[in-house]
Amino acid sequence: MTHVAVIGGGIMGAGIARSLADAGHRVVVVEPYLPVEIDGVTVTRDLNSVLPDADLVIEAVTEQMSVKTPVWTRMGELTRPDAILSSNTSVFDIDAMAGLVQAPDRVLGMHWFNPAQLVPCVEVIRGSTTSDGVVIAVQELLSGAGKLPVVVRNSPGFVANRIQFALVREALLCYEEGLATAGDIDTIVSNSFGLRLAVLGPLANADLGGLDTYQSILQFLSSTLGERFAVPEVLKRLVADGRLGVKSGDGVSEYTPDRIAQLIHYRNARLERVISAVKDTP
Ligand SMILES: NC(=O)c1ccc[n+]([C@@H]2O[C@H](COP(=O)([O-])OP(=O)(O)OC[C@H]3O[C@@H](n4cnc5c(N)ncnc54)[C@H](O)[C@@H]3O)[C@@H](O)[C@H]2O)c1
Repeated sequence: MTHVAVIGGGIMGAGIARSLADAGHRVVVVEPYLPVEIDGVTVTRDLNSVLPDADLVIEAVTEQMSVKTPVWTRMGELTRPDAILSSNTSVFDIDAMAGLVQAPDRVLGMHWFNPAQLVPCVEVIRGSTTSDGVVIAVQELLSGAGKLPVVVRNSPGFVANRIQFALVREALLCYEEGLATAGDIDTIVSNSFGLRLAVLGPLANADLGGLDTYQSILQFLSSTLGERFAVPEVLKRLVADGRLGVKSGDGVSEYTPDRIAQLIHYRNARLERVISAVKDTP
């Protein structure tokens, strides 16, 4: 049983606390401003009394460095030197937080997704000083709680929010330009490629769709809508090398004929299940 201190009991902190308490850990939430009620979880306003006992601290306070910095300074001062310190930040620099504490090898990002008690994936963000042992300990804790930890390098927005916010930004621009109503834009996404993304990620989907086709599409979009659609160097290289996706054998990933047949079967079978699971919901 790990003694976990979750700092901030808002949308994310409450869900993270719920998830780890359900996995059998002793969880305390520090929330000085809002009333928070979570079964089986102690809630307090007093950061100072909680930090010395913690094996793992998950900072989930407001996404502003001016709010996070004093919390991290306290975390550095009041925790045991072997306590693991993490932030649930969506985009900020993990190394900047590590720079606020002693023993920065124990600092990493732990980026959960809303609602944290339901969504399986958690990005584990390795900073430039994070030790292997700390990454492994956090992966084990998350796996033990039924989560799917994926380790990524520290970089603005990490992986998920770089991709997610590119999508949100483009959806907002479609709305701003009056291409469709807000509801219809969401309907299009949720009932088309959004369904596919629940089964296979964008890179596997690109291999199935054909990288030469994707390149042509991006060339047209960049010539009409601008540089934000410029063809990435890696795509130009793959197409120039004849790696067009499953239709040529290899693409972003490498395949055997058996693997291609399995992938298509997996996509179609899972897609049918996803569609039938969501089709009656509004
Ligand atoms: N909302 C999301 O979808 C989402 C998803 C993933 C990650 N995150 C990240 O999680 C973190 C928290 O986001 P949220 O959505 O839960 O925000 P939120 O505003 O719902 O909650 C933040 C909480 O922190 C509390 N707080 C502020 N200062 C504090 C302090 N000094 N000590 C203790 N608590 C303090 C606030 O009272 C508030 O309840 C942010 O870093 C955010 O980027 C958010």
